[in-house]
Amino acid sequence: MSESNKKEIRRIGVLTSGGDAPGMNAALRGVVRAGLYRKLQVFGIQRGYEGLLEGEISEMNAHSVSNIISRGGTVLLTARSKEFATPEGVRRGKAMAEIFKLDALVVIGGDGSFRGARDLHRAGMPVIGIPATIDNDVGCTDYTIGYDTAMNTVKEAIDRIKDTAYSHERCSVVEVMGRNAGYIALNCGIAGGAEACIIPEKDFDINEDIIKPILACRNAGKHHYIIIVAEGVGGSMEIAQQIKEITGITTNATILGHQQRGGSPTVRDRVAASLMGAKAVSLLAQGITGRVIAMKGESVVDLDIEEALEMKKDIDEHLIETSKILSLY
Ligand code: F6P
Repeated sequence: MSESNKKEIRRIGVLTSGGDAPGMNAALRGVVRAGLYRKLQVFGIQRGYEGLLEGEISEMNAHSVSNIISRGGTVLLTARSKEFATPEGVRRGKAMAEIFKLDALVVIGGDGSFRGARDLHRAGMPVIGIPATIDNDVGCTDYTIGYDTAMNTVKEAIDRIKDTAYSHERCSVVEVMGRNAGYIALNCGIAGGAEACIIPEKDFDINEDIIKPILACRNAGKHHYIIIVAEGVGGSMEIAQQIKEITGITTNATILGHQQRGGSPTVRDRVAASLMGAKAVSLLAQGITGRVIAMKGESVVDLDIEEALEMKKDIDEHLIETSKILSLY
């Protein structure tokens, strides 16, 4: 870290941006409490970058974050700001932060939110990013806040759907969130004992990847089937229709939708979010900015924001292979 990147920071703003994720509140609490501990003033910004542009900014205290660690969603509210994606939006956002005399911003969100944070940093506004999205699709980190809670919600939904699929001897196609990534689908496919799991990272063939496994299971004596489809693949209704037409098995499709984003965060999300929030403040207290907090294995680390945004992570091929092996009846 060069000395030129360091400056004294006394007043910090914090916002949540993009799709909400369980654990965002725990991260906010981490930032506020660790900030107060280090004698910083912390300001909450409502509705993400939209609220920054509008100056919806007010000081927080220890009490402002009481009783929020167990709550899903984000008490700061969130938005996907189109205006902030433009150079003029970034200029106006920085100007508003200066009106409130904010020395730095903590941005809690996913990849899109980090691009806004990087643009602000390039424009001269010091920032730190904390990765939070149920999709786990941020390249620089092994883990994003909200991912574990969402997967547990999906796992419970699959278990319920499986009970009725078993009783009626049906096939159920379950579409799960993840934007263009298959992390939720793949892990929940394994956890839910799915017969097949279709993810955007891999091309699929309906006969090879869905029909054959279903028929192999049926011929081995099975009478209920779960097929997980990631939203990045989509078309779960059509896939269900094709399964029915080709196999004659009664098949329905369930799109789990936004229930996957809500709910009280799991222990993993609460702890990860708390550690990340505290780490962000520890950097700011040292005058270090332009960083993204990340998890590497079980460790909380920080990375240069420009480099972090260039990083890519691959889906785990071993997990894909294992999922196929274990689904063979
Ligand atoms: O990024 C989180 C996520 O829930 C994705 O899985 C999904 O594609 C998207 O957000 C949905 O966004 P919205 O709630 O704006 O429709």
